[in-house]
Amino acid sequence: MNNIIYLDAAASALKPESVIKTETDFLRDSYANAGRGICARAIAVDDKIAEARKKVADFIGAKSPEQIVFTAGTTDGMNRIARIINDSVCGDSLKNKTIMVSDLDHHSARLPFEVLRESMACKIVLCPLDAKYNLVDADLPKADVFVITAMSNVLGTPQDVASLVAAARKKNPDVITIVDAAQYVVHNEIDVQKWDCDFMCFSAHKIGADTGLGVMYIKNPGRWISPDKFGGGMIARITGSAVNNNYSLQWEPAPAKFEAGTLPITQIIGLPAAIDYICKNRPNLDLIKYLYDRLNKNERIQIITSRDASMLSFYIKDMHALDFGALIGAHNVCLRVGNMCASWIHKLIGIPGSVRISVGSWNTKEEMIVVADIIENIVK
Ligand code: ALA
Repeated sequence: MNNIIYLDAAASALKPESVIKTETDFLRDSYANAGRGICARAIAVDDKIAEARKKVADFIGAKSPEQIVFTAGTTDGMNRIARIINDSVCGDSLKNKTIMVSDLDHHSARLPFEVLRESMACKIVLCPLDAKYNLVDADLPKADVFVITAMSNVLGTPQDVASLVAAARKKNPDVITIVDAAQYVVHNEIDVQKWDCDFMCFSAHKIGADTGLGVMYIKNPGRWISPDKFGGGMIARITGSAVNNNYSLQWEPAPAKFEAGTLPITQIIGLPAAIDYICKNRPNLDLIKYLYDRLNKNERIQIITSRDASMLSFYIKDMHALDFGALIGAHNVCLRVGNMCASWIHKLIGIPGSVRISVGSWNTKEEMIVVADIIENIVK
């Protein structure tokens, strides 16, 4: 279906030709598993994975490729971080600890820690928000763990991660800071050294790479002794003897320690092309401003994002977001409606859901004019 207007980049980006070609060429001409073979083809794949890891490290300002772990996506990364921290045998179990989250969080950022509230008797505290729903670094509660949403997938405003991390450290120098950069990475350069966070996650598919791949940055990989997944490629050796159970397992150093099993090789090999693409082709946010100015004039449309946000979210007086979604879907316009897997911010605003328009490099002003006309016609 080529006559659609795709305005759901924040859910997943369309794929640039360079990514499609890189992956197709690899699948057709050079495919082999990574980290296992010693034939020339397998070694060439290992080299490509190493190049991709280095590319990611440079892309986010990491010191070293060893700090980059490939995951299945942001959800996988955030869940794994909660487990890695909690299970780590270096004395950092989260039992009775205080975890700071916020109402900007996507379910994938907050639920892994909400679950620890139940299983580890953790206390959940909230990072304060200002009147425009930005995270505030003043008067932060003291916390042992701080989950920071760098950009809400509903409100699209970049948060000042560096000052939030610094403020949390003033309250507790040992606080573990975890950044969900799933939306931020699409629109902004990331500098993990400037943020000085302990962990950061993003999903490759939102920047134009393939699905099933994410990046987890770990500032001090050696600190986290316990891996959370076990299998091929992550064990260095088994020492001792099986007699009397007198043996021990020694893990590979990171990143291998956190990458059990076969990696999403094809997706990783496509990732550098996506990084090159997104760095040169960030979404044109003038398109969002155009829609903001048009729709803001309509009294039934309540815009909840700011004019300079990276997306446009709104609700319609007396019309459920899902009804609106069905009506605009009939015009072949793809956008997202509902709670966006971000219930807390909707609860705070006092609405059951919203409509979200997000753009990518493929969208045009002409499309925005058509979409604004359609919306005005639906919301008369
Ligand atoms: N987290 C994605 C979104 O915001 C799927 O739509």
